[in-house]
Amino acid sequence: MLEVRREAHAKVNLFLRVLGRREDGYHDIESLIVPLSLHDTVVCREAGGLSLNVEGSDPSLPSDSGNLALVAALALSERAGVLKGADIDLVKRIPVAAGLGGGSADAAAVLVALNELWKCGLSEEALMEVGADVGSDVPAILADRPVLVSGRGERLRAVGVPGLHWVIVPSALQVRTPDAFSWWDEDGCSSGPDPGWFVEALASGDLASVRDGFSNDLEVPVFARYPELEEVKRLLLDHGALGAIMCGSGPTMAGVFTDPDAAAGASRDIGESIVAISRGAA
Ligand code: C5P
Repeated sequence: MLEVRREAHAKVNLFLRVLGRREDGYHDIESLIVPLSLHDTVVCREAGGLSLNVEGSDPSLPSDSGNLALVAALALSERAGVLKGADIDLVKRIPVAAGLGGGSADAAAVLVALNELWKCGLSEEALMEVGADVGSDVPAILADRPVLVSGRGERLRAVGVPGLHWVIVPSALQVRTPDAFSWWDEDGCSSGPDPGWFVEALASGDLASVRDGFSNDLEVPVFARYPELEEVKRLLLDHGALGAIMCGSGPTMAGVFTDPDAAAGASRDIGESIVAISRGAA
């Protein structure tokens, strides 16, 4: 085998609850994460050394050791004790530093592709352990299905969620993930309510009752600094979204729709937005 190609799917959080800061500086969270159809593409080819070539939406994205795709490749080679190289081509479509898990998705796709190309033979569980060291969202993205996550993102439970239609509204603002979490600490923010009912309603496909469940505890500190993002949320709800939520630590906002035509119409009216789907899982 000389080449392995993988899609690297973005994610959205249907809810994100921040439970508190831990001794190691991370925060314990609880979140429901689903993969989106929006994806980057990763192609790995056998080579003498390790190199990364990035093409696509954001020319500012690093192609050096700061890129999670390369961090993942190095972490895999160390864990599997493999001394092989690869040329990695990455075609970016997922907005960068947007809260959509783009970097983590690229890392997850590289782990799966190189595990195959290099014949490492690591199990999915072992890949998730390697992925958790690369980034907190990597295990959930590796699962490639709706999962309830806890810990700092490394503990997963598969859950049922119906297929949904999304209008993704990227932003030119920059919000760094560590900043969003430390603003939550600084502002003395609280954790959202127990989302058990929301998880159950989604699992039973009861979309009529889930409207109030879409929530993200990082919205309070991020909206306090960037009130224009709350306006985007309002805009999505005014265009008929069932729920509208900030993606991860932001600044992208996402509106959820049950009807593809309603999503397409909202996206057209709002402008500068991406239509995507999250496929259902039992
Ligand atoms: O794991 P990742 O590298 O994506 O995390 C980036 C930063 O976001 C961490 O260094 C930490 O400051 C913050 N973070 C957190 N709690 C999490 C995930 C991330 O505080 N559960």
